[in-house]
Amino acid sequence: MGRKTYESVGKPLPNRTSIVITNNQDFKVPEGHMVAHSLEEAIQLCIGKKLDNVFIIGGAEIYKQALPIADELMVTEVNAMPDGDVFFPEIDKNEWKVVSTTSYFKDEKNEYDFDFVVYKKSKP
Ligand SMILES: NC(=O)c1ccc[n+]([C@@H]2O[C@H](COP(=O)([O-])OP(=O)(O)OC[C@H]3O[C@@H](n4cnc5c(N)ncnc54)[C@H](OP(=O)(O)O)[C@@H]3O)[C@@H](O)[C@H]2O)c1
Repeated sequence: MGRKTYESVGKPLPNRTSIVITNNQDFKVPEGHMVAHSLEEAIQLCIGKKLDNVFIIGGAEIYKQALPIADELMVTEVNAMPDGDVFFPEIDKNEWKVVSTTSYFKDEKNEYDFDFVVYKKSKP
């Protein structure tokens, strides 16, 4: 994740190793987590750990850099139009195909209906 996303969450997410990407050479994260200074360096850290899957969890700056190398998108599409100043990059429908959609209705935990949509890259 990008440094701004990390700071918006305030701490590493539970039950996983986080890699925070920043230009700041002095950036510190809690023990067990890692800092990288480019997306490439972060991916190399994952390759070094022989991980089967790497999840890129934002924000917008990191998503934009990662889309060309991603092979799957797992997107929660919320049925709402809130104001915002940070946006997921446009998903090119020629390049990405929907492989599954699961719909959920709003409930006591979720204020809006939403779809969980999985896209796969159609051109490798
Ligand atoms: N709804 C969602 O699913 C979701 C998911 C994730 C995030 N978000 C939201 O998105 C917002 C943050 O997104 P954002 O686009 O503003 O920021 P971001 O992508 O989280 O972080 C940007 C920062 O990452 C570092 N960075 C980016 N590319 C780099 C590179 N190639 N090399 C080294 N460092 C690099 C820089 O940190 P330095 O400035 O420290 O150098 C940059 O300022 C937050 O409000 C967060 O809550 C939403």
